[in-house]
Amino acid sequence: MKAESRKVSESVVETVHMVRPNHLNAAGRLFGGMLMQWIDEVAGLVGKRHTRMNVITASVDNLRFLRGAYQRDVIIIIGKVTYVGKTSMEVKVDSYVESLSGERTPINHAFFTMVALDGEDHPTPVPRLILESGEEREEWEKAKKRREIRMMRKEEGF
Ligand SMILES: CC(C)(COP(=O)(O)OP(=O)(O)OC[C@H]1O[C@@H](n2cnc3c(N)ncnc32)[C@H](O)[C@@H]1OP(=O)(O)O)[C@@H](O)C(=O)NCCC(=O)NCCS
Repeated sequence: MKAESRKVSESVVETVHMVRPNHLNAAGRLFGGMLMQWIDEVAGLVGKRHTRMNVITASVDNLRFLRGAYQRDVIIIIGKVTYVGKTSMEVKVDSYVESLSGERTPINHAFFTMVALDGEDHPTPVPRLILESGEEREEWEKAKKRREIRMMRKEEGF
């Protein structure tokens, strides 16, 4: 039987949040844990759309906070699959603050490894990824390198 495959565009997720008082830390900035929850939800939804199965977060790396966000800022979060292994996939999640003019300033980049689970909660094969553009192929090559580093770190108990 031919393995299922899906395009990157079929599982892209974009969410919008307005930073409210209950999202702030004591210093008046967006609480990092709040953003982490939002991006984890996006990565999970991307994984579910790509696999049409239940998925879990196996790891998150390169979680980089580039700048703060403040009350009333509009936060845009975009997640997409960049690579698939056998039972796991890499989901890249980029977060931005969007100004009134529509300009987007990056505030965070993160790479999630999501694993698909079967009905008994065991890792199960994920659909292949159809790469349609040079950018998607480039992202795939970069993701392959990140996966090697991740596996090396895992072996070293990092
Ligand atoms: C993620 C989990 C299923 C992996 O279990 P495991 O025994 O290592 O399973 P496997 O060896 O079959 O690995 C499954 C896939 O996960 C990948 N993986 C495992 N550990 C990983 C790690 N630390 N980082 C990145 N990928 C990892 C493997 O490379 C494999 O991918 P592949 O099939 O594409 O090659 C298991 O560790 C788990 O259930 N963790 C808890 C996840 C969870 O509850 N998340 C919610 C956060 S609160």
